[in-house]
Amino acid sequence: MNKLILKLAVVSVVVFLSSCGGDSDPGYEFMPNMYRSPSLETYGENVITGLNAQLPVDGTIPRGYLSTFNYDGSLEGYLSAGNTAVNPIEKNDKNVSDGKALYGMFCEHCHGKTGAGDGTIMHPVYSAVPHYNDDKLKRRCDLPMCDLKAGHIFHAITYGLSAMGPHASQINEEERWKITLYVQEELQHYGQN
Ligand code: HEC
Repeated sequence: MNKLILKLAVVSVVVFLSSCGGDSDPGYEFMPNMYRSPSLETYGENVITGLNAQLPVDGTIPRGYLSTFNYDGSLEGYLSAGNTAVNPIEKNDKNVSDGKALYGMFCEHCHGKTGAGDGTIMHPVYSAVPHYNDDKLKRRCDLPMCDLKAGHIFHAITYGLSAMGPHASQINEEERWKITLYVQEELQHYGQN
């Protein structure tokens, strides 16, 4: 019994002594690397592997990537889209009528049934909706509305223009091309031929 008390006394003294130390002394650390991992700043340089953590993995597809149209929202993007973008949608009755239905849902309330800029939205902000078949007033690309190319129209739908908001989040890429097809086939020369 006495031996047990003695053992307990020795253990208590050891525990008591080992817990002494300065306030900042963490005591014995079994695996210091686990307690003290190197702190990395978000988007900072990765000091462990030396690799830059900002680089996306090979083959990563950026959010909002369009497989048939990659022009930015700038004027240069708009102009080069007009020069080079090609509508990948086949011109046939089905696609034109799909485009017409989509136009009715997303554009007609401002641009009007025949594209004359006379939609049902009545607000001073939307008073200057251009006519699609206007052949006089030059637009940003130095062409009148009736001569806008597919890339110009797709760009306007995607990124918007002043009072017309961007429609990229509401209408997918294929649908935007179908609307573009419909605008070019049916509205740009409406009443002119
Ligand atoms: C909220 C009203 C509104 C809606 C909805 C709208 N537009 Fe517009 N759109 C406008 C206005 C206003 C302008 C003229 C902007 C300017 O000239 O500053 C315009 C301009 C345009 C232009 C000319 C762009 C250029 O390059 O000059 C095109 C093309 C066009 N819209 C297509 C569409 C299509 C297609 C849709 C449907 C997907 C659509 N818009 C939906 C209001 C609208």
